[in-house]
Amino acid sequence: HPSAQDYLYRPSIHFSPPVGWMNDPNGLIYDGEYFHLYYQYDPIAPYAGFVHWGSAKSKDLYSWEDGPIALKPTTAGEAFSGCAIIDRNNTSGFFPALPDTDPRSKEPNLALIYTRASAKLQTQDIAISRDGGQTYTEISENPILDIHSNSFRDPKVFFHAPSGRWIMTVVQSRLHKVSFYGSFNLKDWMHLSDFESAGLFGIDYECPNLIEVPLEGTNETRWLMLISINPGAPQGGSTTQYFVGFFDGERFKAEDEHTVFGLIDFCKDSYALQCYENLPLSQATMIAWLGNWQYGEEVPHTTWRGVMTLPRRLSVRRDTDGWIRLVQRPLGLENLRLAQIPTPFRHLPARTTETVALPKNQAIELIIKASLEPRDKMLPDGSLGRAGRFSIDFANNNGEKLTVGFDGFFCQLWVERGGLKGFANPFFTREFSTSLTPDLREFSLRIVYDACTLEIYVNDGISVGSSLVFPQEALDRVSFSTTNTAASIQQLEIYPLRSTMPR
Ligand code: FRU
Repeated sequence: HPSAQDYLYRPSIHFSPPVGWMNDPNGLIYDGEYFHLYYQYDPIAPYAGFVHWGSAKSKDLYSWEDGPIALKPTTAGEAFSGCAIIDRNNTSGFFPALPDTDPRSKEPNLALIYTRASAKLQTQDIAISRDGGQTYTEISENPILDIHSNSFRDPKVFFHAPSGRWIMTVVQSRLHKVSFYGSFNLKDWMHLSDFESAGLFGIDYECPNLIEVPLEGTNETRWLMLISINPGAPQGGSTTQYFVGFFDGERFKAEDEHTVFGLIDFCKDSYALQCYENLPLSQATMIAWLGNWQYGEEVPHTTWRGVMTLPRRLSVRRDTDGWIRLVQRPLGLENLRLAQIPTPFRHLPARTTETVALPKNQAIELIIKASLEPRDKMLPDGSLGRAGRFSIDFANNNGEKLTVGFDGFFCQLWVERGGLKGFANPFFTREFSTSLTPDLREFSLRIVYDACTLEIYVNDGISVGSSLVFPQEALDRVSFSTTNTAASIQQLEIYPLRSTMPR
């Protein structure tokens, strides 16, 4: 029976499973009509248990239609993470031509490539669909890649047009290696190269993705190598790191030979992201699991567990220091906006607060661009912040508060979820922070608050925070406060968002 928390924490625009447990997004592919979303799923218990692939599809990445279970555990093992591809030219031979009168002839040649995982062995396997991705049949040639390892998983495959072949990235998780394989027919795979021990070690490398994205403001592109790590993140538990560079069809080389890495998130609830297959590079899109293995199975609701992030567009941008960084922006929120909530204030003197009421149990998008005035030299230093802070507090009458704040002296942003009373756990970190442009006393934020989720896109997506949040009661107002200095608000828009996922 669903509890009050099962309703309270159910997001209205983020995907969550109908019942049971969900972790990684799998098999993300656009088939020309539908965006498919498969996911690591235990339909029976709200814990990471006996792993199936759940399925859903959507035309806009927001209204999801649940589909049947796509993959089940077998005697060979559970169905761990993997990807989907469309074998348009039947390179594999798995899709013999059908007469035009057969309705299946209109459907895309969809295949899932995933890991069969038992305690002793992890292999890469394939299943195909002839009904548009609803049901899948495992091929008799499985496994298609077996190196006799029990830590070899999470294949992500794409077609590399310049070399005319399929490229697979897959991890040898305990060796901290991403292995690259090439194939002309999806069945015979040749080892091409390894990308190893770069960035963070952690315990396991998981869910690699390699994708070409635009370099903003140029006609150039770069390749992003994304590697999820669990556990061992600097913030604790699971995280995803990225590298920017080039792919020559055989190996990934970091930009200018400098293997600089970044983390995709400054909070700790964005993991195992996957990029959509079959989209033009200018539309590179990802979804991640909005969770962390450290406490995902203990969050305070029970009939369902697991949320996906919003769909996000990916690109890279040269930052003020000359280095290229990942940019993530939420996609399509404009289409969900309801009547804007008035915010008739643009100047906040020092030590003032303005408060706005929010509708309960509705997703909220808040866009703000503001700058802090220089500190008044006459003011003493003090507990209110040396040079002034600006904070945005979501709150309720239950004494709960969720803060996103900017410190004008350090040019850093913080998030404080510890003022919420719905969940306590030794690993459920209360505060996070990120550094922004040095010496720039201004910031722009796009915040999306939806039930148990908070996403913060900072300075046009160059820094992103994704966080689970568990208030005991819905947060039904938001305040804007200054400490030691005044602030000018250049832009402030608040929109309730239309629910797309009534559950
Ligand atoms: C990442 C992961 C993958 C694995 C799957 C199992 O979160 O551990 O490496 O395939 O989850 O559900």
